[in-house]
Amino acid sequence: MLIFRTQKELQNHLNSNPNDNSLGLVPTMGALHNGHLELVRTAVLQNKTVVVSIFVNPTQFDKKEDLEKYPKTFEADKRLLETVSNDLIIFAPSETEIYGNAIESKTYDFDGLDKVMEGAFRDDHFNGVGTIVETLLKLVQPTRAYFGEKDYQQLQIIKKLVSSQQIPVEIVPCPIIREQHGLAMSSRNERLSKETRLKAGYIYQILQAAKIKFGTKSASYVKDWLAKEFENHKELELEYFEMTDAENLVPVIEKSKDKKYRAFIAVYADGVRLIDNIALN
Ligand code: PAJ
Repeated sequence: MLIFRTQKELQNHLNSNPNDNSLGLVPTMGALHNGHLELVRTAVLQNKTVVVSIFVNPTQFDKKEDLEKYPKTFEADKRLLETVSNDLIIFAPSETEIYGNAIESKTYDFDGLDKVMEGAFRDDHFNGVGTIVETLLKLVQPTRAYFGEKDYQQLQIIKKLVSSQQIPVEIVPCPIIREQHGLAMSSRNERLSKETRLKAGYIYQILQAAKIKFGTKSASYVKDWLAKEFENHKELELEYFEMTDAENLVPVIEKSKDKKYRAFIAVYADGVRLIDNIALN
């Protein structure tokens, strides 16, 4: 396991070690769980060299308090990564190393992908994500970079970033990894009580039920139905539920046979914000 804290050290190492055009990058913010590790496992299978970045990116947090609360568990993260491979490169820079003295994001045109759902509810979030992902891709210059469908909107935005900036990298989407009762794995799940964590399994159940309803009903019917279902689950507060075109994330008005659709949900459980999504066809 190699650990680098500066861009220079990482670059020097990568430049002096041939990777046969087989270099994988897995960007993370640490507090690793099995969802992250699955990305790393896939990257290890597909590449000779794998860099895992661990960096809690300040510019993507809309609330200062969320940034301050974000768990920093470097030693545990390192041990978890060792269970996947001893041959990884960890890049764990400081804020100053990445941003210097100006902690600011660039402003991107993501063609409206950032205006819905997470973008509508979290100011400037995706400009922050774009800024750090662009920095990491240009620094590491990986052959492939790995992102989870757990953050499906982020994944679409990163695909757009890479095509509009003409960054030569393959973006590899990885499926959502779930806890036994269906809750999508997230570092935020640790903040839930045992009881709420179990109850939050309902989020995936209702997504699966919505998928079945979507087969025969209109999107607006499914939306109203789902909001009513939540009235029987007072411990979970629905923030949004959207069904969109899976590519451009435009909300479905009329269904068309040749398009792919996806449903997205954000829910508060005991004050913890949880997101999930599902392919509808
Ligand atoms: P983070 O939340 O740490 O997630 C890192 C990667 O792990 C993301 O691609 C995310 O989609 C994926 N991931 C998280 N939970 C998952 C799960 N249950 N199943 C599958 N994949 C999962 O996403 C970020 O960090 C940041 O925005 C980042 C891209 C690193 C930029 O700062």
